[in-house]
Amino acid sequence: MRSVALLSLLFILALSDGADRQKNDRYAEFKKKHILPTDFQTDNKIAWVEHLVNNDLCGRTSVQSFIKDSEENIKLICNGSGTKTRDNYIKSTNLFQVYNITSEKSTSQMLEWECKVNCSTAKYHVIVECQNNLPVHYHYSIFLRILCIKKLLLKALV
Ligand SMILES: *[C@@H]1O[C@H](CO)[C@@H](O)[C@H](O)[C@H]1NC(C)=O
Ligand SMILES: *[C@@H]1O[C@H](CO)[C@@H](O)[C@H](O)[C@H]1NC(C)=O
Ligand SMILES: *[C@@H]1O[C@H](CO)[C@@H](O)[C@H](O)[C@H]1NC(C)=O
Repeated sequence: MRSVALLSLLFILALSDGADRQKNDRYAEFKKKHILPTDFQTDNKIAWVEHLVNNDLCGRTSVQSFIKDSEENIKLICNGSGTKTRDNYIKSTNLFQVYNITSEKSTSQMLEWECKVNCSTAKYHVIVECQNNLPVHYHYSIFLRILCIKKLLLKALV
């Protein structure tokens, strides 16, 4: 009997450990896809290309949105600093600087490939999906289109 109880306990511990890991994984994924380091040079073309390439994000989707703010402020959207929308997402109370990036992976001659990047930026309320008080999915934000970097075409270092 006791060993069964012990086994069940271990099983429950393993399950909750798995759930915790999954929770952190989803936030880690959100962070990788949508949060820029606070010291990120948003007007630096090479920085964008390197960021996308290093995080395997070049060409991931047609438009990717990146928030430039501290992780703490962004986490707060799901922990008091946001309001529920009709469809159960959370809209941030604060305005965030968001960068919309279009990128495209293209192979050029000599086995080199390039990551082409365009960028527009605006301040807006962002709408995210939350899980356990952490943002896990970027829903959308409404933009005024302001180009932050002009046409770029750069070679990515692989
Ligand atoms: C970037 O913008 C230029 C000019 O608007 C366009 O021709 C090009 O296809 C765009 N590139 C990407 C990756 O969106
Ligand atoms: C949410 O806020 C509470 C109270 O400030 C804090 O204890 C908790 O760690 C926060 N949760 C997350 C996931 O940041
Ligand atoms: C920015 O991206 C969002 C999707 O994340 C899209 O709804 C919006 O139209 C885009 N705005 C611009 C100006 O590219």
